[in-house]
Amino acid sequence: MARRSTLINIDPDDLIYPYFVVSGNKVRARINNFPGIYRLSIDELLKDIRSLELLGLTKVLIFGMPDKKDLLGTGAYSEDSIVASAVRKIKENFPRLIVMTDVCLCAYTTHGHCGILKGPGIELDNQKTLKALASIALSHAGAGADWVAPSAMAKGQVSAIRKTLDKNGFRKTRILGYSAKFASNFYGPFRNAAGSSPKVGDRTGYQLNYRDANAALNEIAADIKEEADMVMIKPALAYLDIIKQAKHKFSHPLAAYNVSGEYAMVKAYVGSRGQGLGAGEEKNIVLEILTGIKRAGADYIISYHAKDVARWLKE
Ligand code: PBG
Repeated sequence: MARRSTLINIDPDDLIYPYFVVSGNKVRARINNFPGIYRLSIDELLKDIRSLELLGLTKVLIFGMPDKKDLLGTGAYSEDSIVASAVRKIKENFPRLIVMTDVCLCAYTTHGHCGILKGPGIELDNQKTLKALASIALSHAGAGADWVAPSAMAKGQVSAIRKTLDKNGFRKTRILGYSAKFASNFYGPFRNAAGSSPKVGDRTGYQLNYRDANAALNEIAADIKEEADMVMIKPALAYLDIIKQAKHKFSHPLAAYNVSGEYAMVKAYVGSRGQGLGAGEEKNIVLEILTGIKRAGADYIISYHAKDVARWLKE
């Protein structure tokens, strides 16, 4: 009898590719410390997605950068927000692509925190934040997003969004909870991309302490109870133990975010254009990393290397 292979393969269907969208036309702007990733205007985004589909990728995660920020992050929930506009165009042109959107306030608030603040300090007003997150999610669902992904780490964000979506006829829009999101040192390039660094203080008030594995598992349990269709662990590499425990404990669909600093670390290691280790080595390193994340238990991986991987798998 043939023995079934237990080897793990990375498949383009496992991967989710993030995009950073800005207003304007023909914008393809480099980002500090983030080689190979660009801020794209919607026209450029659509071109890029065409090549992404040709590579066999099926899922994207959309982040937006508004023209103007304010205290309440209102740019995030207007009907013509940058993300809602991008999603509408994507769905018009690529109806089969699975579109996920990030639901957070940090790129839209002047203070750069993930929610609405209570007062002059940096403490979040949870109720007001939940209301804002629910309207953001609703505007994305209205534009055609298949999945909304709340990343603010506000208490009760999944159930607040679920209720609002259901009440407005979006029962089929699914929720990816950024359930175990650590206050990590690996988000630097992303914050350059989204212009979302906190102006005062840090995010340790609402993101998880990486020394606390139990808190992470409790957050995941809470999000599943709140009916998240999938849960996420973020970052991935320093958290493989959490991924593994979560998969065993909950057997719920699980995503891992191989974040910007992890990507930039690989880029720094392999160097660029023939200096350093070169492209062949980058392929081997990235496939080893992604396989490790999948082996730990991730069903889906958000990766800035997704397009490269899809290309390498075709070679
Ligand atoms: C916050 C958010 C962050 C990332 C995605 N959404 C980080 C943060 O600033 O706390 C990071 C992703 C990455 O580093 O690739 N809403």
